[in-house]
Amino acid sequence: MTAPNKPITVPDFHAARGVRKLAVVTAYDFTSAVIADAAGVDAILVGDSLGMVVQGHGTSLPVSMAEMLYHLRCVRRGTKRALIVADLPFLSYQVSPRQAVKNAGKMLKAGAHAVKLEGGERMADAIAACVRADIPVMGHIGLTPQSVHRMGGFKVQRDAEELLADAKAVQAAGAFSLVVEGVPTELGAKVTSAVNIPTIGIGAGPHCDGQVLVWHDLLGLYDGLRPKFVKRYAELGALATDAVAKYCDEVRTGVFPAAEHGFK
Ligand code: KIV
Repeated sequence: MTAPNKPITVPDFHAARGVRKLAVVTAYDFTSAVIADAAGVDAILVGDSLGMVVQGHGTSLPVSMAEMLYHLRCVRRGTKRALIVADLPFLSYQVSPRQAVKNAGKMLKAGAHAVKLEGGERMADAIAACVRADIPVMGHIGLTPQSVHRMGGFKVQRDAEELLADAKAVQAAGAFSLVVEGVPTELGAKVTSAVNIPTIGIGAGPHCDGQVLVWHDLLGLYDGLRPKFVKRYAELGALATDAVAKYCDEVRTGVFPAAEHGFK
């Protein structure tokens, strides 16, 4: 079942659970937001994964609030229909619930409909504070990339007890949906049946209520990490390299520009 052809709100997204699967993709700029929106995604996540796939860092940790706000504004201008969720970057919400509300509020002022933050039980107070301020929150548990050093790498998370406690804490704090990343399929299913908010999986198996993929992974534009859970729906990186190589060749041989590319 496709997404409705009207702007998708937080209540619409929440109500889709059990009715249809939710398709979410990340985007970081105007053009990709236009494409994702036209393709019919339910939500665009302006993810702090941009630290890796746009900025070229090895993790998302260096990304700042100012950078997130810049990319969010670009996406906002390209989106007519999809729900826009903006990631709170590392250290923009962990210090205190007050800090979380202040920074989440900046995201809404810049055009996001909701924010996403990483962490379960430990972040419940920050989630609840945002929700009290009428800022919709998407939780994120399991493999949380901002915890890369605690986890000792981007590793599949297998502690069922901890994962279930985290999922329940995020729901109890008032989140409207929950990203579940990098957990065995069976655990993705268990979390999905333990809560009544939509779960959005990434490397969490097919039983989640929806899926999210990073733009550059889905389109074959990024080779920095190639996790098993990624399906590449196109090889745009290879296509782009061929196109640019052809351009170089035509410039050097004088084929481009041709007469039709000039002004009379
Ligand atoms: O930053 C991001 O893109 C994310 C998704 C991978 C869920 O958090």
